[in-house]
Amino acid sequence: MPSRPSDEPAYAAVDDLPFAAYDEPPLDEPPFDEPPYDPAYDDVPPDLVDPWSSAPPRGGSRASATASRPSSSVAAGHGLPAREAPSRPAATLVVDGPPPSALEVLRRVWGYDEFRGDQAEIIDTVVEGGDALVLMPTGGGKSLCYQVPALVRPGTGVVVSPLIALMQDQVDALSALGVRAGFLNSTQQPHERRAVEQAYLAGELDLLYLAPERLRVRETVELLDQGHVALFAIDEAHCVSQWGHDFRPDYLQLSMLHERWPEVPRVALTATATEATHAEIAERLQLREARHFVASFDRPNIQYRIAPKDNPRAQLLHLLRTEHPGDAGIVYCLSRASVEQTAAYLVDQGIPALPYHAGLDRQVRARNQARFLREDGVVMVATIAFGMGIDKPDVRFVAHLDLPKSVEGYYQETGRAGRDGLPSTAWLAYGLADVVQQRRMIDTSDGDAAHRRRLTQHLDAMLALCETVSCRRVQLLNYFGQSGAEPCGNCDTCLSPPESWDGTVPAQKLLSTVVRLEQRGQRYGVGHLVDILRGKSTPRVQQLGHESLSTFGVGADLSDGEWRGVVRQLLAAELLGVDTDGYGTLRLAPASAEVLRGDREVRLRREVEKAPRSRGSRDERGGRRAAAADLDGPDAELFERLRAWRAGAAREQGVPAYVVFHDATLRAVVERRPTSLQALGTISGVGAAKLDRYGAGLLAALEGGDGTA
Ligand SMILES: Nc1ncnc2c1ncn2[C@@H]1O[C@H](COP(=O)(O)OP(=O)(O)OP(=O)(O)O)[C@@H](O)[C@H]1O
Ligand SMILES: [Mg+2]
Ligand SMILES: [Zn+2]
Repeated sequence: MPSRPSDEPAYAAVDDLPFAAYDEPPLDEPPFDEPPYDPAYDDVPPDLVDPWSSAPPRGGSRASATASRPSSSVAAGHGLPAREAPSRPAATLVVDGPPPSALEVLRRVWGYDEFRGDQAEIIDTVVEGGDALVLMPTGGGKSLCYQVPALVRPGTGVVVSPLIALMQDQVDALSALGVRAGFLNSTQQPHERRAVEQAYLAGELDLLYLAPERLRVRETVELLDQGHVALFAIDEAHCVSQWGHDFRPDYLQLSMLHERWPEVPRVALTATATEATHAEIAERLQLREARHFVASFDRPNIQYRIAPKDNPRAQLLHLLRTEHPGDAGIVYCLSRASVEQTAAYLVDQGIPALPYHAGLDRQVRARNQARFLREDGVVMVATIAFGMGIDKPDVRFVAHLDLPKSVEGYYQETGRAGRDGLPSTAWLAYGLADVVQQRRMIDTSDGDAAHRRRLTQHLDAMLALCETVSCRRVQLLNYFGQSGAEPCGNCDTCLSPPESWDGTVPAQKLLSTVVRLEQRGQRYGVGHLVDILRGKSTPRVQQLGHESLSTFGVGADLSDGEWRGVVRQLLAAELLGVDTDGYGTLRLAPASAEVLRGDREVRLRREVEKAPRSRGSRDERGGRRAAAADLDGPDAELFERLRAWRAGAAREQGVPAYVVFHDATLRAVVERRPTSLQALGTISGVGAAKLDRYGAGLLAALEGGDGTA
């Protein structure tokens, strides 16, 4: 270990822990959550020869498809109350005459007025029997792209979905709309499974959800053969990509769907947008001939902010108290330990927070997830093991307390905010320790040089986003190959533009200090380097004789914080390196020489000593909920009353509140004050089934204590 010459005092190794004198917490330690997270995959029996090889049996008896389930497929439950298969017929859909048009279905069942973006075209493609590959951002509205065609086409839409823990919620939400949906997985009792199978065979299911593992089972394949499949939807299709972050081997075999059922249209959907993943999905799922739809990846309702990390938990608390009191949100941390500590801290502060990481017991995870989905205003503190497929529409903020490893991951995680289109916040606390830690993790990671190079490229893109002085959104969209966007006006750099300055000379001062120390066979962390530059005669400086360095005191013009900003940005730009010793000691990087020679100008972002208050809509909003943001006194009260009514209705039926109505719908009700069922039915989000089930109750709640009427 060249950085620690043997003549150094023994205490140096301990004492030189970087940042000890500063506010930043110590480096977070593993374990981190890496995929696979032991998610609740479907437990299918291990058997089975290639189920695809058998010829499609024609006219097989129904009994053979449903009998003799291996008992091993009854696995641990997902923690949600077991429910019977939906038995309610979709009365609103059973019409004589020609099948309903897609738009009719959208209006009647979902109560939405119009399709968004490419939805209409994608749906037409599938309804007409064509294949489609859909890239649309998180919350963009991919589900409708297969749900609507499943209702328009005769037969059952079969949806391959990676996480069984979420199937129940999807089926609940569809059932509330009057859609006949079911799933088959190992959380069910045999009789429940049989009921779903019978419904499918009898042509009484509009949608059937399956995990990819289930298609490994011959009985499933045979079952599908005996009914009528309207389409195959492959959700979260990036799981087929081996280089992606959610690889699922069982996705690879899904290309066989096409060979087995060539007549059945397929639609694959994902929110992972890079060109490389796109190409890999098309290749592996044999969708090169399909129509490809690539939507804009902009999420204009999400305000992107990256704050200088100071005391992250206190900063988080401030964010929650001032901007998001009572709101549901997700807080991402890197390590399991910090997940638990942060959740406990928030609970201590009176915020209903729950932990989630792959090290927790499966039951605990399922329970916490269910509470997050079902209760209002729960904050989930989690590693990246949490979130895929979560379609809670009213997540008002996503906060990152540690630097994500890639822009892809960051964008997918932040995209879980604001699926309902209402204003939401994506907030990231970023500091020097993050850069040191991530660079070190890459250097010490397993895998070959190519693997490390890829990790470095991902990190560099993330750091460039953090250090940019221009619009974050423009940079994000550029990253996903969507150039030409205008500055958005709804990110921190647009709202309070940071200045940039010429940091070449300070960079040279710092780097030459590192050079001079290296000449003495020594390396140090940022704390000691800044002491030298600022000319502080600490006991340590005296003992090591560092007052005699020619750079001692040459940096008195910058503050400690400014120097740390210089170091962070040099690290981010790889003009300075981190040792792998785990102490955050600094060393020269290959490109340092260019700066030292004066061949390279160093532009730096001006350090803001305190995080800027954002301007604009956020401030006016004060502490109010986003959905009620600009409602005044009586309206805000009414909105809260409707929410209370909704909570009761949701509890009664054991479903999440948003399954009853979204916030946006309640808000429209407050604005329009409908006095009849007919008027209520014209509001976006009120479809026929919901009008039927909740209309009268909602109107009563609306009249209830409304003194203004
Ligand atoms: N045409 C529409 N009009 C109104 N709301 C819509 C429309 N299409 C979709 N939505 C709503 O948008 C939200 C997000 O939709 P959806 O769950 O399909 O997102 P997604 O694209 O599957 O995202 P993810 O990548 O996270 O799975 C849902 O609440 C849905 O009801
Ligand atoms: Mg989805
Ligand atoms: Zn912007």
